Amino acid sequence: MQNRSAALQAFVDAAETAFKERAQGEESRRSVSRSFSALAAPADKPRATPANEGSRLPVCDAHLDQMIDPTRFPDADLAALAETFRALEPALSWSKRKGTTAAASDTFDQGHANTLIIGPGGLERRTDVWLGVSLLAPDVRYPDHDHPPEETYLCMSRGEFTHGGSDWFEPGPGGSFYNSPGILHAMRSGSEPLLAFWLLLTA
Ligand SMILES: [Fe+2]
Repeated sequence: MQNRSAALQAFVDAAETAFKERAQGEESRRSVSRSFSALAAPADKPRATPANEGSRLPVCDAHLDQMIDPTRFPDADLAALAETFRALEPALSWSKRKGTTAAASDTFDQGHANTLIIGPGGLERRTDVWLGVSLLAPDVRYPDHDHPPEETYLCMSRGEFTHGGSDWFEPGPGGSFYNSPGILHAMRSGSEPLLAFWLLLTA
């Protein structure tokens, strides 16, 4: 079995605490619980190339450092999540979303970045659970999109979300919500950048 680095394990532990504390509703709590039960065992296959060097996009250089500053969070679980993520971040590869741009703002292309910590192409490559994060510059509307796996979001900033044709809603920092399998969803930032973690359970 692959050994997880101490830094990645610390992040997984912080994410487990925060997601479990903040998940809303029975379906989300079950999904989060099952996800972290699976993550208790590191993936079997080490990635071919050690992930020593990540890559940022310009939007990361513009906004990320302020968004993952642990001192921004009065709540200890969110501060720990930010701190452990910040420690991993230099090894992460950020990229733009591939696929449709339905309903996206014209600021979207240059104004967003995603990275996977765990999942295909992540620091820990596996397919059963994906844990990633999205960064949006101010005034960016992400495309409407959907995917088969169910998903729990954990917001680390202000910003609005919609799913299943709902009105836009704002969970706020530490807010969490659940996307059922296949539901159409999107997010948008206002005058501040948006940062949100997402946890997908495929199995
Ligand atoms: Fe999603």
